[in-house]
Amino acid sequence: MTKTILATGGAGYIGSHVTVELIRAGYRVIVLDNFENSDPAVIDRIQTLTGTEIDVVQTDVASTSAVTRALRHFDVDAVIHLAGKKAVGESVANPLLYHRDNLGGMTSLLWAMEAAGVERLVFSSSATVYGMPEKLPIDETAATGVTSPYGRTKLICEEIIEDVAAARAGFSAISLRYFNPVGADPSGLIGESPSGIPNNLFPYVAQTAAGLRPRVQVFGADYDTRDGSGLRDYIHVADLARGHVAAVEHLLGTRTGDRRHLRINLGTGEGHTVLEVISAFSNASGVDVPYEIVARRPGDVAASVADPALAQELLGWRATQTLDRMCRDHWRFQQAEVERSRFGGHRHNGSVVSLDRKEARL
Ligand code: WQD
Repeated sequence: MTKTILATGGAGYIGSHVTVELIRAGYRVIVLDNFENSDPAVIDRIQTLTGTEIDVVQTDVASTSAVTRALRHFDVDAVIHLAGKKAVGESVANPLLYHRDNLGGMTSLLWAMEAAGVERLVFSSSATVYGMPEKLPIDETAATGVTSPYGRTKLICEEIIEDVAAARAGFSAISLRYFNPVGADPSGLIGESPSGIPNNLFPYVAQTAAGLRPRVQVFGADYDTRDGSGLRDYIHVADLARGHVAAVEHLLGTRTGDRRHLRINLGTGEGHTVLEVISAFSNASGVDVPYEIVARRPGDVAASVADPALAQELLGWRATQTLDRMCRDHWRFQQAEVERSRFGGHRHNGSVVSLDRKEARL
C-alpha cells in the first residue's frame, strides 16, 4: 500500500528535492509550508517534474492543531521535518527568532504527532552540531559543540527528539546531519533561490557567474588546508534527498527493539576548498568567476568533512554526484532563475488548503 509522508518545509530548497525523490520512490507526499521563505510556484514545478498532483497544507508548523488535523486527515505514516530558519548570521543577531521558530516548531510538531498517533520522524539536522571538529573525517560519535544560536537549535531539537524517543515506546526517529548541500535538480526547475545577498558559497558563486555580483569574497586563505581556503564536504541536494528516502524506508521497516533515535551524517566523505569550488564552477559555467581574498569570517572552521560510513551501513545510502555535477546543475538552475525573473515569474494556480483560515476544510 502507498505510504503517506508529510514534509514540513516541503516547498523549500531541500524540501522540494526531498518531495520529488519521495514521489519518484512511490510515496504520496503532503507538503506543509507557510511559504515564508519559499515560493508557492515551486509546487507547480514539482508537479511538472513528477507528473503528480500534490496536496499542500499552508500553515505554520507552530500551529499544533492545524498540523494535527493534517496528520489525521491524510492518514500520515511518517513526517520529515525540514521547516525552520537556517541563516547562521541572522541567528546571532536575533537568537530569539531561532529559539521560537526552530524549537517551537519542533515541539509543536511532536505534540501534533503524538495527538495523531504518528510515530516516525526524520529530522533535518546539520553538521553544524559538531562545532569545531577535533578530527577529520567526522563520524557520529564525535563531540558536539555549537558556534551559533542556529547550531544550538539543531542540537537542542535532536535532544528533544531523544527525550521523546526514550519516553514513547513505538516512536522512532532519524536526525540527518547534513554537511553542505548544493546543486539543484538537473531540470533547472527547482533549486536554491536565496532572497537578498546569499550567505552561502554556492549561491554567491552562481550569482557572481551570472553577473549579479561583482566578485566572490574568499573568507580567508591562511587556513591549514591544501590551498589555505576553507574546506567543506559539499553534497548534491539530489543525493541528500535520496538520503531522506532511505531514512524513511528504514523507519517504516523498523523492528521493535531497534534503536529509537539515530543520528546519521549525510555527506560525501570528500572535501573541497573555496578556491577549488570557484575553479570548478568557472569550468562548469564557462565564466571565469572573479574573486578576491579577504579576512576570515568569524565563527568559520577550517575544514569539515563527513565520515559517511554509518549512512551506508544502516541506510544503504551513499552520495554519488561529483563536484563538477553539483556546479553544472547549480548553474543550470541559476540561469533558469534569471530567465524566469525576466519573464516575471509564474504564480501557483493549484489548490492550497489554508489551515489558518476559519473556513479550512480539514
Ligand atoms: C562554505 C565555505 C566559507 C561564502 C553553513 C552553516 C551550516 C549549513 C550550511 C544550513 C566556508 C566560504 C562562503 C562566501 C566564502 N547551514 N565562503 N565566501 O559555513 O560551511 O555552513 O551553511 O542551512 O550549518 O554553518 O557554508 O556555504 O557559508 O561556506 O569564502 O561568500 O565557503 O568561509 O569556508 P558553511 P558556507
